Amino acid sequence: MQKLVVANWKSHKNLSEAEAWCETMLGLEPVSSLMILTPPFSLLSAVQNLADERRDLVLGAQDISPYPAGSYTGAISARNLEGLNVQYVIVGHSERRQHFGESHQDVAKKVAQAIEVGVTPIVCLDEDYIADQAQAIDAELLERCVVAYEPLSSIGTGDSADPAEAAQIKDRIQKVFGLVPVLYGGSVDEDNVATFTEYFDGVIVGGESLDATEFHSLAQRA
Ligand code: PGA
Repeated sequence: MQKLVVANWKSHKNLSEAEAWCETMLGLEPVSSLMILTPPFSLLSAVQNLADERRDLVLGAQDISPYPAGSYTGAISARNLEGLNVQYVIVGHSERRQHFGESHQDVAKKVAQAIEVGVTPIVCLDEDYIADQAQAIDAELLERCVVAYEPLSSIGTGDSADPAEAAQIKDRIQKVFGLVPVLYGGSVDEDNVATFTEYFDGVIVGGESLDATEFHSLAQRA
């Protein structure tokens, strides 16, 4: 299977920075992995052209409302994403759990909202709550998820997990979710990416995704 390499820009970049990233990426050669660019919602329109031009890149969102379309001021519903070419959505990132108080139940609702409109959820987990999170999700939907194992101690710290030890967590995840693709996230860079894709179906990349050339070369090595 083609490796999935997610660029999670988090809350970085304004419009001109996003456009510059896309322009650089457009000039770089094709890669054999599938790059999934997840910009902030406000920049999704600005990156459409890149996804149209590159066959090795698709778009994702960083979050989705747990509620359907309706009176939820400020929330981005699954319906709001329609027409924007969004194929994946990150749900339950530890930063959302920590700073926005998201519960396993909230994440489960987001999974259901995404799947309803044909968007694949990428469910982020640390090893302590694999079973609890899975239990909150409708059992029929588990196998339609991609899961990302993101150890808290590795996110944004430069201290990535040991790939072989992390691979044991992949097995635990697949025992609960079924044989879904499992990604690793947490301080992935150009130098260590290949050690992770030896065991995992792909990676989520935060800091190292902000520069187009660096991210491209990471994706090439995945
Ligand atoms: P990092 O972030 O690559 O900057 O560690 C990964 C993530 O939060 O998904």
